[in-house]
Amino acid sequence: MTTTSPASSYSLNADYWTRIIRGGLDRYRTGLTNPAMLAAAGDVTGQAVLDAGCGEGYLARLFAGRGASSVVGVDLCPELVDAARAQAVVEGLDIRYETADVAALPLDDASVDLVVANHVLNDLEDPAPAIVEFARVLRPGGRAVALLLHPCFYGSRGRPVDRDSYYQTRRIEQHFDVAGEVSPAPVVAWTRPLEDFATEFVSAGLALVGISEPHPSEQQRREDPWWDQNFSRPLFLLLTARKVL
Ligand SMILES: C[S@@+](CC[C@H](N)C(=O)[O-])C[C@H]1O[C@@H](n2cnc3c(N)ncnc32)[C@H](O)[C@@H]1O
Repeated sequence: MTTTSPASSYSLNADYWTRIIRGGLDRYRTGLTNPAMLAAAGDVTGQAVLDAGCGEGYLARLFAGRGASSVVGVDLCPELVDAARAQAVVEGLDIRYETADVAALPLDDASVDLVVANHVLNDLEDPAPAIVEFARVLRPGGRAVALLLHPCFYGSRGRPVDRDSYYQTRRIEQHFDVAGEVSPAPVVAWTRPLEDFATEFVSAGLALVGISEPHPSEQQRREDPWWDQNFSRPLFLLLTARKVL
């Protein structure tokens, strides 16, 4: 049996991951999930932003470049945090990156206006403690934006989700395969029914204020057959929640 812990698999994949992201090789991100995440985040001018599970740190860099008053990126993988810090120096950006668990954030209560968790909650077998932490660090009225694999449609390796497994917590172990480049180590993703995610946000005091399903536009599909070849079912869910006052 393969044992895959998030930190160790991302450590083994850190160079691969950094190259894929910085090379813009993941078209799902560049064409769909990044624009959706940035639109949901909105104008961050003057806001304190947390990029929870920041990976090599690109979203944090984008928010710093868009006028956030402070940006913190947190990730469990030290190699990715090192890569993020190094790139912030290269770009002259003032971003604090920390190696930490999103379920134990190194931030004060009510110190953040916006938490983003981009492709992160699926890394957690139990996302509830992280969502509670998001609520703790958010100021009243602050927002959390989470981009997830669509729980209703995302099975392993193209398999649809059947009725019985949908209502379970599902473990999906696979290698990343982006633009024909396969990651050195497998990663484990977890998913669960949509109602569980909704309950966890609401129980933490985060009211859901937006749900969207990033997907290719008609224009994208018309202009590039890649989308119809590679987006054969809904893949993504974007949840926006506001900390209740
Ligand atoms: C799919 S990657 C996404 C990274 C980044 N948000 C992005 O969009 O490029 C998931 C990230 O979550 C991190 N991660 C997994 N579990 C974590 C945890 N418990 N606390 C902090 N980071 C975690 C991994 O190290 C990895 O960098």
